[in-house]
Amino acid sequence: MQKTKIGIIGCGVISSIYLENGTKTFGMLEVAAVADLIPDMARQRAAEYGIPKACTVEELLADPEIEIVVNLTAPQAHTEVNLQILNAEKHVYAEKPFALSREDADRVLALAEQKGLRVGVAPDTFLGAGLQTSRKIIDDGWIGTPYAASGLILMGNAYDAMHPNFHHYLQLGWDPLLDMTPYYLTAFIHLLGPVSSVSGSAGQVKSEHTVTNPRSPRFGETVPIGAPMHVTAMLEFENGVTASLQAAKESFGYTPRLEIYGTEGILHVPDPNMFDGAPRIQQRNGETHTFPYSHDFAQNSRGIGIADMAHAIRSGRQHRASGGLARHVLDIQMGILDSSKEQRRIAVEARCEQPAALPLGLKYGMLD
Ligand SMILES: NC(=O)c1ccc[n+]([C@@H]2O[C@H](COP(=O)([O-])OP(=O)(O)OC[C@H]3O[C@@H](n4cnc5c(N)ncnc54)[C@H](O)[C@@H]3O)[C@@H](O)[C@H]2O)c1
Repeated sequence: MQKTKIGIIGCGVISSIYLENGTKTFGMLEVAAVADLIPDMARQRAAEYGIPKACTVEELLADPEIEIVVNLTAPQAHTEVNLQILNAEKHVYAEKPFALSREDADRVLALAEQKGLRVGVAPDTFLGAGLQTSRKIIDDGWIGTPYAASGLILMGNAYDAMHPNFHHYLQLGWDPLLDMTPYYLTAFIHLLGPVSSVSGSAGQVKSEHTVTNPRSPRFGETVPIGAPMHVTAMLEFENGVTASLQAAKESFGYTPRLEIYGTEGILHVPDPNMFDGAPRIQQRNGETHTFPYSHDFAQNSRGIGIADMAHAIRSGRQHRASGGLARHVLDIQMGILDSSKEQRRIAVEARCEQPAALPLGLKYGMLD
């Protein structure tokens, strides 16, 4: 199969794993160029991963051989960069969050439709071994009929020490709802199907944070917290399942949990922010059972959504980490915020299909 040339815009923290996998794991991708607002960031990544071209965003978009452009910029820039990519007649694959408002996401989807181009959006962890095996366990009937679920992600200011641009984490887009729940909501939709309505409550304990990471450009400064730092939500799925979801960055450490409750068992799903982790079920008779992986991609395979989209473009099928799925996720998130403000239950208007499970027995690195 002819390789798909991709370009990457945004050469910050997460670009490393995309470049690692884009150059080594997915044989059908070829990273042709990288760009960043800060030219040194692009030059450094190009040198690290042997990418032939580090250039400006405009030069990257003018390259006629690049088919898919990957947007790894900060959330505040996602919509404008996505529109720029589509206006250059390229397919776009963007990091989450898809957008900071429903209207921005719709502008991107409308332009893509008008131009006959594809939109793919992270997260793609649901294509990994942990979540594909979890899907097979449910589809094979191991837990009977699912009736409820719960998701929980608590993390905290330890991330100040890890990310040089942690101050961004305190604004909308890096807040726990838009930054972390995409993993949980995408996993829920992959495992249980689409959501029909939501209610929620959002809040924050502190109004400012003093940056303690010496690598941060804002080291020592006290920056305002501009988005809710904890949310609690209740989701109702189209199939009648109900779920609770909690996300917070007010805490400390890192506590990820996702469980699906069925009439015959409880499924403990591995961390949906990761590709690995063995799913485990607790059965009616008290026994627990840990499952071996049914699928590959247990190592950090970020970028698998791009490879899936590249295959799908060649064969004409739907790609799985799609703009439609991300738009549904965004509608749920915005519904939670609306519900918190308006004190009422919100219908989720943007529909999507449950993404198809990956086939069994794929050759490693291949997705068709
Ligand atoms: N850091 C992580 O662990 C992680 C994990 C998963 C997903 N993500 C997502 O990936 C995205 C990027 O995160 P990050 O941690 O790499 O951020 P980062 O701040 O480290 O890097 C972002 C880069 O984008 C560049 N940039 C910003 N606006 C631009 C524009 N208009 N044109 C070109 N370049 C631009 C910046 O100069 C910077 O180098 C975010 O949406 C984030 O949610 C991050």
